[in-house]
Amino acid sequence: MEKREGKRRIVLVSPPAQGHMTPMMQLGKALSLKGFSITVVQGEFNQVSSSSNHSSGFQFITIPESLPESEVERLGVIEFLMKLNKTSEASFKDCIAQLLLQQGNDIACIVYDELMYFCEAAAKEFNLPSIIFSTTTATHKVCCSVLSKLNAKKFLIDMEDPEVQDKVVKNLHPLKYKDLPASGVGPLEPYFKFCREIVNKRTASAVIINTVSCLENSSLSWLQQELGIPVYPLGPLHILASTYSSLLQEDRSCIGWLNKQKPRSVIYISIGSVAQMQTKEFLEMVCGLSNSNQPFLWVIRPGSISGSEWIESFPEEVSKIVSEKGYIVKWAPQIEVLGHPAVGGFWSHCGWNSTLESIVEGVPMICMPFIGEQKLNAKYIESVWRIGIQLEGKVERGQVEKAVKRLIVGEVEKLKASVRSGGSSHKALDDLVKYLNVE
Ligand code: UDX
Repeated sequence: MEKREGKRRIVLVSPPAQGHMTPMMQLGKALSLKGFSITVVQGEFNQVSSSSNHSSGFQFITIPESLPESEVERLGVIEFLMKLNKTSEASFKDCIAQLLLQQGNDIACIVYDELMYFCEAAAKEFNLPSIIFSTTTATHKVCCSVLSKLNAKKFLIDMEDPEVQDKVVKNLHPLKYKDLPASGVGPLEPYFKFCREIVNKRTASAVIINTVSCLENSSLSWLQQELGIPVYPLGPLHILASTYSSLLQEDRSCIGWLNKQKPRSVIYISIGSVAQMQTKEFLEMVCGLSNSNQPFLWVIRPGSISGSEWIESFPEEVSKIVSEKGYIVKWAPQIEVLGHPAVGGFWSHCGWNSTLESIVEGVPMICMPFIGEQKLNAKYIESVWRIGIQLEGKVERGQVEKAVKRLIVGEVEKLKASVRSGGSSHKALDDLVKYLNVE
């Protein structure tokens, strides 16, 4: 990378989604603690609040929304993101031009989420260094790279064969076809094209990943070789530089409820910020949980049950069963909940942030992946890191009850050590800062 001594501003660009914005703000905080000024460029929808505690000293710039968020439903996530990347290029270039004009050329680097690859055009035009940030695993990036080279039509035919579903994918051991992030994403051709876009490094000079080398050593080495640019595993970012960037209001009353429960007795349930479950799945979960006789804390996010605003529309009996043994909130202070002594297991959609948060607190998981790379994470949780169990097939009450009872408590301490002095992520951050040439 070109030497940029004295350039101390980092421009951050994230998609307007909780699971991406949170780690991006944590990265911003980690870099600001190392002396950089941080500028966050965002659209009008789902903004990170500039008054949040992470942001003292951060500059926030809003650029016009290039594509209304309501288009997600019409286009599907993949088409929406591809179109967003096309339509955002010009407004981001204007924004960078303004920044350079008003603040002088102090930009050390543009760090953008891998989904926001439109940023690269501005970096190229103004001759600024850029770094790609990945909020998912290194293994997911490897998967995208392998998938991007496959023929979508042939892959689709292969995937229709139930026997193929259970086969291990070449070059991706131990992932089976059924674990790949390709199912549930809509038509495959655009998805493979999107994979090609996100593994295309363009003119970026490095990649930062919110992961830990002890979890993903071989995927990280593979990536490093494939991309030919430095790869920095800086995770878990939430312990390296914790911040508050919740888009929904946290309901802290659940901590009081947890305080009254026995140690390691509660199952915490959350399906993250985007997944939706069917009404039938929800009702089977209610019955299975009730039959398991374990207390549970359940985050039911508004809109997370398909076709219902929230749980008010269900028969009163449902709320009765739920409130007898459990506690429901619309959004929880998740990291605090996972660290609470009463929590003994995490029933999770296996989003990557939730997975890291759970591993750090040593909470074993019941995996119920929904979309994207969540299935891949679930496979690693069960078969590689062995810190959880997967629910296979349809959600059914007997299976829910058994899984809740089977959950075993285990601990992963290595991750906490990774961000301490001498640890791998601590060292990767120091290397990154040296790379940015300002120390
Ligand atoms: C999705 C993908 O599944 C994930 O792998 C990708 O990295 C980002 O997009 P999402 O559904 O947002 O993620 O899940 P996850 O990555 O787990 O992030 C959710 C975040 O919301 C976590 O940091 C979690 O602590 C927080 N959360 C969740 C709360 O603070 N309160 C809640 O009640 C639920």
